[in-house]
Amino acid sequence: MNRPDLRVNFAGISLANPVVLLSGCVGFGEDLARLQGFDLSSVGAICLKGTTLTPRSGNPPPRIVETPSGMLNAIGLQNPGAREVVEEILPRIMHWPTQLIANIAGSTVEEYEEVARIFDDSPVAGIEINISCPNVKKGGAAFGSDPLMAARVVAAVRQGTSKPIITKLSPNVTDIRTVAQAALEAGTDGFSAINTLMGMAVDVDKRQAVLGNVQGGLSGPAIKPVALLQVWRVYEVAKPHGIPIMGQGGISNSEDALAFLIAGSSAVGVGTALFKNPLVGGEIVTGIDSYLSRSGLRSVSALTGTLQGR
Ligand SMILES: Cc1cc2nc3c(=O)[nH]c(=O)nc-3n(C[C@H](O)[C@H](O)[C@H](O)COP(=O)(O)O)c2cc1C
Repeated sequence: MNRPDLRVNFAGISLANPVVLLSGCVGFGEDLARLQGFDLSSVGAICLKGTTLTPRSGNPPPRIVETPSGMLNAIGLQNPGAREVVEEILPRIMHWPTQLIANIAGSTVEEYEEVARIFDDSPVAGIEINISCPNVKKGGAAFGSDPLMAARVVAAVRQGTSKPIITKLSPNVTDIRTVAQAALEAGTDGFSAINTLMGMAVDVDKRQAVLGNVQGGLSGPAIKPVALLQVWRVYEVAKPHGIPIMGQGGISNSEDALAFLIAGSSAVGVGTALFKNPLVGGEIVTGIDSYLSRSGLRSVSALTGTLQGR
């Protein structure tokens, strides 16, 4: 029997398979590429570290703390700035046998547009807009929690690029559907759902917040049920328009990934699980492939949004 077709056309980006390595969890992928046993062609795409117009040194340490079934991070978008990424880093990695997706952030609408313009003139396959980063004081989450602001950012990025744009939605909102609807009307080609949930940790001996930034973003298995529900909600808004979702939040194995596909995702992202097992992306692809074969499904896209009943 023929193997199932794992290819996905995600918002115009051709992915060899639906598994994407998530922004902030592999930097610009160069350490991973050097890792023995890691095969770049095993994953559909890599989302690059969140990039701003000018370089950022990020938040004071500690920036990461382990939590039950997850982690809190407050990196604060440390990055070398868009020009350095496009001029120095991309030429080194553009020939990789996987798709590269930029992840952009800004503190003003204009900044988002300018960063999008810089990446428009680069070999990335698409641009993911981080309107949902909870770890920077200006911008980020403020855009992601207000449908009007989200729409302004998406419209500005749309002006700045003809590449596919993917809006990364925040779960830190009352109703994710209103922000998704606004982004859709402003011209997004795809969604990523979800970014991290806001949280904090307290050191009781010092009576201090553990993170230098006090608050951070919770990720990993702890957020999976929340993420699944949010994907399912976004799918309701996105499906009639044929806009795909990159489901993410706590995916650690192929069963998790399959749940996200069934709930409405066309692609799936893995982030925190990479800190434990950098090869997990390829393992998830293998697991999806055998599930499709076992279920007699010819393609992974046939699984998207197949949640039954209720
Ligand atoms: C250390 C760390 C850094 C992150 N940096 C970014 C970033 O720069 N831009 C972004 O959009 N998301 C960032 N994220 C969020 C992830 O891309 C992902 O959406 C989130 O962690 C949920 O997936 P996971 O539970 O598989 O990690 C970061 C997450 C972690 C853990």
